[in-house]
Amino acid sequence: MTIKKVGIIGCGAMGSGIAQVVLQAGYKVIVQDSGQQFLDTGLKRIKTSLDKLEKKDAITSGKNQEIQNLLSGTIVLEDLSDCDLVIEAVFEEINIKQDVFSSLDSICKKETIFASNTSSLSITQMAAFTNRPSQFVGLHFFNPVPVMQLVEVVKTMSTQAEVLKTILDFAASLGKVSVVAVDTAGFLVNRLLTPFLLDAMQAAENGVASVRDIDAAMKLGCNHAMGPLMLADFIGLDVLYNASSIMFDEYKDSRYASPPILRKMVLSGNFGQKSGKGFYDWSDGRNPVPSTLNN
Ligand code: 3HC
Repeated sequence: MTIKKVGIIGCGAMGSGIAQVVLQAGYKVIVQDSGQQFLDTGLKRIKTSLDKLEKKDAITSGKNQEIQNLLSGTIVLEDLSDCDLVIEAVFEEINIKQDVFSSLDSICKKETIFASNTSSLSITQMAAFTNRPSQFVGLHFFNPVPVMQLVEVVKTMSTQAEVLKTILDFAASLGKVSVVAVDTAGFLVNRLLTPFLLDAMQAAENGVASVRDIDAAMKLGCNHAMGPLMLADFIGLDVLYNASSIMFDEYKDSRYASPPILRKMVLSGNFGQKSGKGFYDWSDGRNPVPSTLNN
């Protein structure tokens, strides 16, 4: 199985980050989003990120042009018919994923491999929306995709060994390190990370320490890139709430139960960095200010 052309569905932060690293590895990429405005924003994000690399002398201007020439965008799903691999990075909503994959199944050639970048939904369930479950995997990237080294490759009971090998080779060609997990809620990283983030929220909610001190403790005491509350804001509190609910449903384990503070923040529209407010005030994006929690 040879991958030459990659389709990416969804052009948000994850989709555009994935598109960038796939382009930089020399593949042809077609990005699809449902609306022209979303598509234009996503394509602009990819271009800006590549131009930044050129400014930093990480790539030459010729290379930048060469990479950008490999990129095209569309709002028409049918334009992905000749892709060898399609990576889906749309909203974490199973009905939307079902629409995408059942349509793609009739549009794409029979050899095309399907992958989902979901962080918590069932790969097995998505594979069952198609007539090619043996050619279906999870391909879970981390934000910011161009920076984070890891990709989680998720296999189901039906994933063919040859497909898994093709995807592992593909991930390596992007310069990423892969880990393989079987299809269970949260896979590997979110299964381990989520209880830690929820615990930090509970500590803040219970007044164990301030937001600033909880984050300083883990950042400076354990050498984490970000403290857990800043990381939660960075991931998106709505995303975490959704993911932890899915894991709680599957495992019935209190480690995955959302603390009330998370639920209240999400219901109040405080989603973290993307909405401007969460455990930090992100009005000045470069200098987030820790909140004094008003439970
Ligand atoms: N795109 C491309 N490059 C980016 C970037 C982006 N969105 N954001 C930062 N960078 C690059 C910068 O250009 C810089 O590159 P340089 O060293 O070559 O100049 C480098 O990353 C460092 O950036 P900054 O100096 O601006 O800032 P920091 O040193 O504070 O790093 C960070 C920012 C990389 C985001 C770092 O804080 C970090 O690694 N945080 C943890 C991120 C993390 O854990 N992500 C995983 C989340 S979990 C997930 O995604 C799974 C999901 O399912 C929930």
